[in-house]
Amino acid sequence: MRKQITLRLNDEPRTLEVQPNDILLDVLREKLGVKSPKIGCERGDCGACTILLDGKTVRSCLILAIEADGHEVMTVEGLSRGSLTPVQQALLEHNSFQCGFCAPGVVLAATELLGDNPHPTEQDVKEALSGNLCRCTGYQSIIEAIIDVQEKASKSL
Ligand code: FES
Ligand code: FES
Repeated sequence: MRKQITLRLNDEPRTLEVQPNDILLDVLREKLGVKSPKIGCERGDCGACTILLDGKTVRSCLILAIEADGHEVMTVEGLSRGSLTPVQQALLEHNSFQCGFCAPGVVLAATELLGDNPHPTEQDVKEALSGNLCRCTGYQSIIEAIIDVQEKASKSL
């Protein structure tokens, strides 16, 4: 039996009908046209499907769409309207990605980290990204970029 849900997706109200067992990741990609959350392991291990749900990172492959009813979902499409965020700019400048499959999840995890802790240590960054697997880069350029965000922000003060 289908159920109507309403959520805020990237600052826009969206109402749609879903099946009770529809996975949020699939609904975002197939019904709402948001393709940045990627289909990876589909069991919570890789972080490719990461989104912000009410400002906190979650694995959208582990959440039913009906659980997002009444909540706020943010993906990178909603973060970067018009210009790149400081996190995205730093990752770009550091050439932090190769294939880019992990990039949306990393951007959101780093955004959450810097929102909670504007001056993270390298260890903080490693812990914050520990659930986001990257098969290409070895992580160092990603970590350096995220550290660089706070250093640039300090210099501009
Ligand atoms: Fe969701 Fe891997 S696809 S954690
Ligand atoms: Fe390819 Fe991270 S850049 S998986």
